[in-house]
Amino acid sequence: MSGDILRDLSQLRSRTRAWRQAGETLAVVPTMGALHAGHLSLVAAAKQRAARVIVTIFVNPKQFNSAEDLANYPRTEEEDARKLGPFNVDAIWVPDGDTVYPTGFATTVSVAGVTEVMDGVHRPGHFAGVATVVAKLLLQTSAELAFFGEKDFQQLQVVRRMVADLNIPVEVIGCPTVREDDGLAMSSRNALLSPKDRPVAGQLFAEMQTMAEGIRRGGPVPALAAEATSRLTAAGFERVEYLDLRSTEDLAQLIAADRPARLFAAAHLGSVRLIDNIPV
Ligand code: PAJ
Repeated sequence: MSGDILRDLSQLRSRTRAWRQAGETLAVVPTMGALHAGHLSLVAAAKQRAARVIVTIFVNPKQFNSAEDLANYPRTEEEDARKLGPFNVDAIWVPDGDTVYPTGFATTVSVAGVTEVMDGVHRPGHFAGVATVVAKLLLQTSAELAFFGEKDFQQLQVVRRMVADLNIPVEVIGCPTVREDDGLAMSSRNALLSPKDRPVAGQLFAEMQTMAEGIRRGGPVPALAAEATSRLTAAGFERVEYLDLRSTEDLAQLIAADRPARLFAAAHLGSVRLIDNIPV
């Protein structure tokens, strides 16, 4: 029975009701599938903390900025189920579009503040799409623990804000970014990198580390960012969208790491937009 793929909300609810009645802690790991070791690290963390683990797989159309990006997003359900096998999760929740957004659906969860910078500016509507679907997935699964990756640090802060503001009874747990050998943060979109671009992609993390080191030595943030940007474009990146030092807490832009801070980057390589962040 373990790891069953569930597609109907009534099925999901009857499972979760039984688990709750048995007093079992329930965790959810929301994903859009095309699972990699980053996703699986969240599943492992969830298994450590909860008796029951639900992995959700839903490619959420509301959080994509272009029809092309949505169409190109990798979909590998069978392989995903196979990868989850060794973890013995209790359910894989794979709702279809009509189950999540039936005819007449009219509600949007929109979070202010932390969404007004970085990807909130460069991807209009993206975080409203994320907040709306995450609210739904938390309510559908009624999980007490929810696991998210620091890879998408701004998303993690958006989810934390929403959960606090709406009194959703769930504890949000952030997990560290899992990387490839060359430092590239694992991402489902990495599969879309061409063989020519893939070796270049690791440069983003390398330049972020160099810049973080410069900041720790007290170097000027704008000059360090300009140097990193010109090296990245020389290496083959088309465009560096942002390379910002920001406060961990509220994502406010900083010119010095005078409080807990992270370096955030978004850059285009081939047809792929890469994002990453590291503590400074
Ligand atoms: P997706 O990109 O599939 O990521 C699902 C979860 O895996 C997110 O919490 C993300 O931060 C985490 N993750 C991705 N790459 C990671 C890595 N290299 N290391 C650690 N964790 C990583 O993020 C989404 O889907 C969606 O926006 C979602 C929250 C499911 C809402 O649709």
